[in-house]
Amino acid sequence: MFHNILFMKIGVFDSGYGGLTILSKIRERLPQYDYVYLGDNARTPYGTRSFEVIYAYTWQCVRRLFDEGCELVILACNTASAKALRSIQQCELLDVWKTEGSDRKRVLGVIRPTVEMVIGDQAKTPHVGVLATPGTVASQSYVIEINKLMPQAVVTQQACPMWVPLIEAGEHTVEGADFFVKKYVNELLSKDRQIDRIILGCTHYPLLYDKIRQFTPPSVKLIVQGDIVASSLADYLKRHSELERCLNKGGTCRYLTTEHPEKFSESATLFLSEPVSAEYVALK
Ligand code: DGL
Repeated sequence: MFHNILFMKIGVFDSGYGGLTILSKIRERLPQYDYVYLGDNARTPYGTRSFEVIYAYTWQCVRRLFDEGCELVILACNTASAKALRSIQQCELLDVWKTEGSDRKRVLGVIRPTVEMVIGDQAKTPHVGVLATPGTVASQSYVIEINKLMPQAVVTQQACPMWVPLIEAGEHTVEGADFFVKKYVNELLSKDRQIDRIILGCTHYPLLYDKIRQFTPPSVKLIVQGDIVASSLADYLKRHSELERCLNKGGTCRYLTTEHPEKFSESATLFLSEPVSAEYVALK
């Protein structure tokens, strides 16, 4: 599909609402661009699904964002970044899209930038904890990426299968949610008593930040991805001026969802503290 190359947008994809925590930070940092957010709310959660299913779903969503005129797509979802990013980047179909539409189409994930920031130029060996979905944990993506940058880093993971469903159901602020927050945090900390930083490796988890903080010793740093991804994107666009030049600078954002748009609008308005009016999309 051809698009006017002067009206290109940035696509942000997540399995549901969680990616809004990344989008809001990206828009704070780079308000000038036009964005399209796609939440696959009808099929969330992704975190408990197989590689094949996550890959197929993510590809459908990425293609839809290409159709919407997105030149660059950010997989804000850690599970999709862990399970589908590499295959999509290496997929011949992406090359077909590039030749049919434009040769600049890019798909980027959130794990690598998070890891680069977490490891930085550490003097001492970090003990890193990762809280993430079962899919992200099983993929070992964080362990692999961290150890590529720093082989001696100690990485301990904990899957938190109940957190996304609690958030998607809007039940994350209730007292009952404390049980599952405490349970996974304690399980992680008991595996390595020296953990000094914890990556919240799922876009939904910043919504549980206060509860996670409550059950984590103050000396342990909690790492939230929004600002990291935003500054990594800013840096990427600086380094890729040929792409940056084609991005439309209207400061707009459209919200697409595969579920009821009214429900999305209502929840997204709460997430973002600004009025959101979402549109329904059927994926092919
Ligand atoms: N928000 C996604 C992530 O960052 C996962 C949520 C889901 O399980 O769908 O991993």
